Amino acid sequence: MNKGPEVARGKTKVLYRSADRPDAVVVVSQDQITAGDGAKRHVISGKGRLAALTTARIYRLLSACNIPTHYLSGGEDDDANEMLVRHCEMIPIEVVVRGVAAGSYVKRNPGVKPGTVIAPRLVEYFFKDDANHDPQYTAERIVDEGIATQHELAQMTDIARIVFDVLAHAWKRQNVLLVDLKVEFGRAPRSEGGTEILLADVIDNDSWRVWPGGDQSAMLDKQIYRNIQVPSEADLANVKGKYEEVAERVGQFQKTTGGFVGIVMGSSGDDAHAERILKALSGLGVPARKHVASAHKTPLYALEKVSRLDGMLGRVVYITIAGRSNALSAFVDAATANCVIACPPIGSNFSGMDILSSLSLPSGIASMVVLEPENAALAAAKILAVDDTVLYGRVLVSQYKNRTNVVDADARAGGSSGQTTPNGKASQN
Ligand code: C5P
Repeated sequence: MNKGPEVARGKTKVLYRSADRPDAVVVVSQDQITAGDGAKRHVISGKGRLAALTTARIYRLLSACNIPTHYLSGGEDDDANEMLVRHCEMIPIEVVVRGVAAGSYVKRNPGVKPGTVIAPRLVEYFFKDDANHDPQYTAERIVDEGIATQHELAQMTDIARIVFDVLAHAWKRQNVLLVDLKVEFGRAPRSEGGTEILLADVIDNDSWRVWPGGDQSAMLDKQIYRNIQVPSEADLANVKGKYEEVAERVGQFQKTTGGFVGIVMGSSGDDAHAERILKALSGLGVPARKHVASAHKTPLYALEKVSRLDGMLGRVVYITIAGRSNALSAFVDAATANCVIACPPIGSNFSGMDILSSLSLPSGIASMVVLEPENAALAAAKILAVDDTVLYGRVLVSQYKNRTNVVDADARAGGSSGQTTPNGKASQN
């Protein structure tokens, strides 16, 4: 990458202005590994490459989930330890999300056994200040000292939680427990004026604790290095091996066998309903196609349709749309071991009693009923997301937007200032 002058230097990376883009910087990961605020430091040849690779793979995953990040390119495709990222004004706060008790949390809470699940997940803030060992700050102090506004801190907290959930999902698919995670944020200019909060800094094997099978002694992360007082060459080689394993495993995060939704409607008259489902699925990036087949009028054709869709490459979830007497959903369900979601349009005949034909089913039939087309699409997406971390992340982001919309509506109604404190309570002003 074409680099201009150096702009900043951290313990494990150097930042240069990009010679190609005035709004970007080049991050070069170094081979250093440090602990104890830099008191212990070693060089592991090739660690910078692994850090850039791990970070780039994580940022690509998070960007695919529609999470706002500073990442632009690099880190993965070339041999250099370099990434191009948007230039941000960094906010000097480390945001730590904890799902399981470990590390400094256990030291501060000696009554809590390491490995205890923390529910709900805890978010903590540490002010970046090596000389004073990164002291813990409260949300109030961060806002009072003008380090971030209340609104910015609420966004940082929400994004940090989503990032944790996305990475925990990705690790869980490999039977590895994400214990805790540290992330940082920056402010970048928005094209329409003002600034926006972006996830920034590296996220690599130094940023989390990860325990395969939930077993602390099997840890893969930097804690191995922290735990050794004076590491030998063999110890450092072992640490490097874990970093290599993590970079490789993170490369699997975006992998999925792929899935799609088969929308089967009983009549072309149901098309408006199907279109609403299709639109909601496309908003989440879920492939889907509409089909028309009636259980009453074309039973053999409907059965053939199901066996064709079942036989296609990729996992399938069915959404069935049939009004009046809905035989279709149960019929499709009996013909497949895949999930079937019934989304019947409810007419006004018999005071909407049509719905009973979707609810009262013979034994051995498991078609689920979700009435709103957009909600049926979401239910299908959640099923496919079990084995698709990008989709899981997109669902999390859409839920976050829903929460924000409610809080903003409250503000417009005069219920609050429109901002929540990071712990979710409405602010007083
Ligand atoms: O040490 P502590 O338990 O507070 O660390 C919480 C999480 O933050 C761990 O995953 C650790 O690796 C990470 N961390 C970090 N950089 C620091 C401090 C902690 O990445 N300076």
